[in-house]
Parts: sequence; structure tokens; C-alpha cells
Amino acid sequence: NSYETILVRREGRVGVITLNRPKALNALNMQAMNDVLAAATELDRDAEIGAIVLTGSEKAFAAGADIKEMGSKTGSDMYREDFFSEWDTFARLRTPKIAAVAGYALGGGCELAMMCDLIIAADTAKFGQPEITLGVIPGMGGTQRMTRAVGKAKAMDLILTGRQMDAEEAERSGLVSRVVPADSLMDTALEVAGKIASMSKPVAQHAVEAVNTAYETTLATGLQYERRVFHGLFSTADQKEGMAAFTEKRKPNFSHE
Ligand code: HXC
Repeated sequence: NSYETILVRREGRVGVITLNRPKALNALNMQAMNDVLAAATELDRDAEIGAIVLTGSEKAFAAGADIKEMGSKTGSDMYREDFFSEWDTFARLRTPKIAAVAGYALGGGCELAMMCDLIIAADTAKFGQPEITLGVIPGMGGTQRMTRAVGKAKAMDLILTGRQMDAEEAERSGLVSRVVPADSLMDTALEVAGKIASMSKPVAQHAVEAVNTAYETTLATGLQYERRVFHGLFSTADQKEGMAAFTEKRKPNFSHE
């Protein structure tokens, strides 16, 4: 498939989506949203794909929603279109998603990275929610996901001033899982994604769901949920294979079932 605003490739069991609107620093217009959703949904449903990497360019992961496309819309346009709510579909995809971020991840770009299950940052990455400087607030999850990721103090600081946070601060704050030199960003992201994709896909999907449940519910309910999922996984072929492989001192050969 060919897309207007993204490039898609496969490296073994890893699907890679590269945002590709270089002249607009990968600003997310409607076309980019539709392209990412179509490509990511196809990869998500593919049994041969065990992880998805979403990345941009050296200069920008994405500099936000497309301000030029959005600027003249009225309040009733936004409400009628339920503007950018379709991104929820991306956030809900169950294949583990890794954002590999170099350069700017601002506004909707930062929010898109936060929809992924983990973020790996180049030392050049800059994260921010500058919407307030445009007379609005974040609209793709920034006030919610940033607050859960970095806590109230830093979220307020970022969202009220619109300032950018560098990669080192982002790692210290818990927004990103690792910071690596810019020239090894993709190697690291592919290595992490490849590792995840070598696990049983349904088991990895359950792990994602269980971790995300920690954000949705009480500790007691979350622990109960985890225990039920843990028990249920003993009915999978991959649990039998994983534990047999350990006992037989060999590598597991998961069937993803
Ligand atoms: C549309 C954008 C854009 C954006 C950059 N461009 N960001 N176009 N929407 N978000 C375009 C510029 O207009 C310019 O086009 C080209 O990309 C290069 O950008 P420059 O500004 O010339 O580059 P530079 O000087 O290096 O500055 C980089 C930058 C700056 C600091 C990232 O571009 C910037 O501040 N961008 C906007 C960041 C932002 O406010 N994002 C939040 C958007 S609101 P031309 O044609 O002039 O060369 C949002 C809401 C989400 O995301 C909620 C949705 C529901």
C-alpha cells in the first residue's frame, strides 16, 4: 500500500510507520491521521506483526496538529466532526506500539507519542504542549496522559507555559523509557520492538492491557484483573511452550496462540 503522508515497512515481525510530511515538520492533518490509522490497523490485525514502531524525521516526530488546516474551523465544525476523536482508534490498537522520537514532539505530536505504549527518545527530542500559545488547550489527550505520565506539577508547568522539555528532563520525569544518541534511535527502537515481537503476541497484548488497567481502576480491582488474566494465560499454547522451553533449557518457539 502507498500512502500520501507516511511510509510503511516491515522488518521481520516489526511494522514501522514513518510520518513523512517533511515540509510541515510532520504536522498531523486529516490525511496523516487517516493514513496512520489505516496502516496501523492493518499491522495490528496481522498475526505476523508483533510490535509497531511509529517514528518521524531527525528534525521532528510531529510538530502538532496541522494549525493551517484547523485554524479557521468553528466551534460547531469541531463538535460536529468530533475533531480528531478517531485518534482514539490508534490508542486502542492492541499490538504493542513504540514511539521513536527525535526532534519536535509538540502538541498533537506529543499526544500521539503518548498514545503509544512506550516512548524511546533521541537526545535531540523536545516534548511540549504549546497549545496555550495558540489560544487553546491540548485536545488529543495531553491534559490527561501527560498528567498521568509526569504528575501534576510538571504537567501544569508544561501545559500552562507551553514550554518545551528536552529528552533528559522527559526521561527524569517518566515520560520516556530511554534516551539514546540520535544516530542510534532507530536501531534501539527496532531492537526493543524486535524483542517484544519475539514474545507471544497475545501474551504481550494482555500485558499491555493489564498495565493500562492500572490507569483505569482501583488497586484492588486492578490486582484482581491481573490475577484473572494470569490464570487465563495458562490455557494458551504459548504458556505451555514457554515453560516447557525453560525446563528443557532451550529457546521457546511461540505459536502466538
Ligand atoms: C502546520 C506547521 C506546524 C503545525 C510547523 N509547521 N508546525 N504547519 N501545523 N503544527 C510548518 C511551518 O509553518 C513551516 O511551514 C514549516 O512547518 C517549518 O516550520 P518552521 O516554523 O519554519 O520551523 P522552525 O523555525 O524550525 O520551528 C519549528 C517549530 C515551529 C518550533 C516546531 O514550527 C512551531 O512552533 N510549530 C508549531 C508547534 C505547535 O504549536 N504545535 C501545536 C499545534 S496545536 P512554511 O510553509 O512556513 O515553510 C495541536 C493541537 C492538538 O497540536 C489537538 C488536536 C485535537
